[in-house]
Amino acid sequence: MSFPQTRLRRLRATRALRGLVRETRLEAADFVYPMFVAHGIDRREPIAEMPGVDHLSIAHAVEEAGEAAALGIPAVLLFGLPAAKDEEGSGAWDDEGIIQLATRAIKEAHPDLLVICDLCLCEYTSHGHCGVLRDGARGPGVDNDATLELLSRTAVSQARAGADIIAPSDMMDGRVGSIRTALDDEGFAETPIMSYSAKFASAFYGPFRIAADSAPAFGDRRGYQMDPANGDEAVREARLDVEEGADILIVKPALPYLDVIRRIKDDTALPVAAYNVSGEYSMLKAAAAAGYLDERTAVLEALTSIRRAGADIIITYHAKDAARWLQ
Ligand code: PBG
Repeated sequence: MSFPQTRLRRLRATRALRGLVRETRLEAADFVYPMFVAHGIDRREPIAEMPGVDHLSIAHAVEEAGEAAALGIPAVLLFGLPAAKDEEGSGAWDDEGIIQLATRAIKEAHPDLLVICDLCLCEYTSHGHCGVLRDGARGPGVDNDATLELLSRTAVSQARAGADIIAPSDMMDGRVGSIRTALDDEGFAETPIMSYSAKFASAFYGPFRIAADSAPAFGDRRGYQMDPANGDEAVREARLDVEEGADILIVKPALPYLDVIRRIKDDTALPVAAYNVSGEYSMLKAAAAAGYLDERTAVLEALTSIRRAGADIIITYHAKDAARWLQ
């Protein structure tokens, strides 16, 4: 007679058994691959803080997007480094801007690959904030409502360039509703909005801000990004985005906020995407380079955990590596 204590171990005996009872699966089809497209370069320029990630010319972005598609990754997320920056961030809604040109080129070469455009002004403003500034009682701050108009203009320009999904990452209040109305009015009622609903004011964006040249010139983003201490507030942010018409909700960063992913998934039942951000990527890269851990096992474990927490989609710089490892 067997002991009841063997109950759980019985199902771990072989690879086939473990596979049969596995609750969470990780596939290339879950991934979104972020890319940095830079104006005025004609070769790949490695980003030192993010080993394996480069600044890309448009031609290289097309090539990289093709590699992602060939690996079974369904979508890329584009960030642009524009020719010039100004107070308002006008490069963001230029129909011939870097994101618009890259989107058109990628869609032309790889029509089945989804192009998601990140929508924010911080890469385009001279001061690096995510909206236009106004002098307030406590010094210069972001003018929420004036920024909405510029974000909406940018969303329409991105959709016109062929973006399949618009992903606002600015965290202004009311932007999902404002962008939805603008898209609908311009004939893009079918274009989904993937909203960065719970975006925390996080130290893990450090490498990205160097890569995207978008660190704020003064102050910080705590006026519009969320306090890492707040989980209830994340649920409230998500509910507002749902009311305003968001189609997919993003939680960002991913690993320090797995509880938030689960809560938003359970509360909204919408598709949830987790953004495994630059700092999370660079940390694993650095530890692996130092020989402290095995990159492949660690990355697959981390990505599986993000799925187990409730994420349907994972935005990750590891997408191509992970897709290869999963083949
Ligand atoms: C733009 C934006 C940021 C990231 C994505 N969109 C940076 C920020 O808010 O400072 C971070 C992504 C990453 O760290 O990988 N607002």
